[in-house]
Amino acid sequence: MSEPVVEARGLVQIYEAGTTREVRVLRGVDLRVLPGEFLSVVGQSGSGKSTLLNVLGALDVPTSGTVRIDGIDLAGLAPDELADVRNRKVGFIFQFHHLLGEFTCLENTLMPLFLRGGTPSKAEVGRVKELLERVELSDQLHKRPSQMSGGQQQRAAVVRAMAASPRLVLADEPTGNLDSRSGARVFEVLRDVARQEGVAFLMVTHDQRLAGQADRCLRMEDGLLSETACPRPGD
Ligand SMILES: Nc1ncnc2c1ncn2[C@@H]1O[C@H](COP(=O)(O)OP(=O)(O)OP(=O)(O)O)[C@@H](O)[C@H]1O
Ligand SMILES: [Mg+2]
Repeated sequence: MSEPVVEARGLVQIYEAGTTREVRVLRGVDLRVLPGEFLSVVGQSGSGKSTLLNVLGALDVPTSGTVRIDGIDLAGLAPDELADVRNRKVGFIFQFHHLLGEFTCLENTLMPLFLRGGTPSKAEVGRVKELLERVELSDQLHKRPSQMSGGQQQRAAVVRAMAASPRLVLADEPTGNLDSRSGARVFEVLRDVARQEGVAFLMVTHDQRLAGQADRCLRMEDGLLSETACPRPGD
């Protein structure tokens, strides 16, 4: 059996611990995601979905519990070592896309390759351009975000997350700003890449139709993550 790409044990996240504003968001979350697995995460607003993604992607340090990415235990890593794991192993698609305004669409999508160090190879640039074509952005390559629609920016952010061939992709409402046709298209591209390249994929979504197409569906509730039946058409 293959090794999990991400393995979390007993994750607890408490904000403002010990104060009257204390919020216990994660109360002991366990999770394993295998290469090529595509998981959806649902749960009410405020249930801790984004908190979970931040902790799994080494953007935030949990109050307690462990996270391993590709066998690397994140506990005890220095901030620059955590940044290195993020750059090499993780792709993020945020709830809000955060493209950089002073760069073009193509430059934005190539950014993770530059951040990883060195100039991207021809093959790497070719792969990114192919992904841009698959999400129908070939005619937007040299535009800046302010000259693109919200949906076009969101699709560029999706390609950017895949640019450096991450092992783990964490997506927070990746299709939130897209109409149902582009949403379905983006979902298809993400799932194909996950399967072909053995990427582990975790997607938070309110879209029942997309959640239902995942390999496994998880629900965040009362600080815990549990397997749930994937919604199927007609539910
Ligand atoms: N830095 C922080 N400090 C204090 N509380 C926080 C912080 N970040 C998040 N919270 C709280 O933690 C809880 C979980 O937030 P989180 O953003 O993970 O929810 P979510 O499930 O992603 O919700 P949504 O579906 O609305 O995006 C919320 O009650 C939120 O107010
Ligand atoms: Mg959220």
